[in-house]
Amino acid sequence: QQRRILIAGNWKMNGSLKANSELIDGLKKAELGASSPEVLVCVPTAYLAQANDLLKSTKIELGAQDVSAHQAGAYTGEVSSTMLSDFACQYVIVGHSERRAYHHESNELVAQKALQSLRANIFPIVCVGETLEQREAGKTSDVVVSQLRAVMDVLDDGALARIVVAYEPVWAIGTGKTATPDMAQEVHAVLRATLAERSEFAAARVRILYGGSMKPENAKDLLSMPDIDGGLIGGASLKASDFLAIVAAA
Ligand code: G3H
Repeated sequence: QQRRILIAGNWKMNGSLKANSELIDGLKKAELGASSPEVLVCVPTAYLAQANDLLKSTKIELGAQDVSAHQAGAYTGEVSSTMLSDFACQYVIVGHSERRAYHHESNELVAQKALQSLRANIFPIVCVGETLEQREAGKTSDVVVSQLRAVMDVLDDGALARIVVAYEPVWAIGTGKTATPDMAQEVHAVLRATLAERSEFAAARVRILYGGSMKPENAKDLLSMPDIDGGLIGGASLKASDFLAIVAAA
């Protein structure tokens, strides 16, 4: 089973109407063919309509950065998965470490968000990753496996095969420190083995992305590892030339 590489940009809370339009203009220079990686940008909710419009004539896909765990109703400020699908979102990031840390999202809440996005036919990008303290205490596998298992618990085998996982060591996010390809591969293999305990089919299909200071200089080595199927890119996704250089390295 050949997994198609997915290069996903996470703009986080950056951008403006003007900046987004310039960035997307730059991204349009990408020549994407059948053998190219899949390219995705996850934009702030406020700009989904703009990005959807600007990306229409391109092969670049659109995603969101978060979704409500609820279907509809009295949840002020929240955005549902069906609302995201109105703007042609194909993917949504769930459980990013910034949301786990600053918004106290639990493994169970993240699982509900993944379930809710699949109900609207949006693929969830489920983020997992350990803090520096957890790594130094030798708890990396325990942490990422329990984060992944919480999501596996609410999905049947068919749904499980439709998720994307992103391994993002918290200590590597926005810090310029990257996990070495071997360090990342080791965790990716643990995650794939965890999927395989439930379903070999899902384990063979699910793409596991690496995230954390991925840039043009280190992308090739990371992406050449057997269980690294793409990248979730923060800082380097805000500059079209850097993001496209990562796409080209894939
Ligand atoms: O979602 C993206 C990650 O948090 C990585 O961010 O590339 O700025 O380290 P970064």
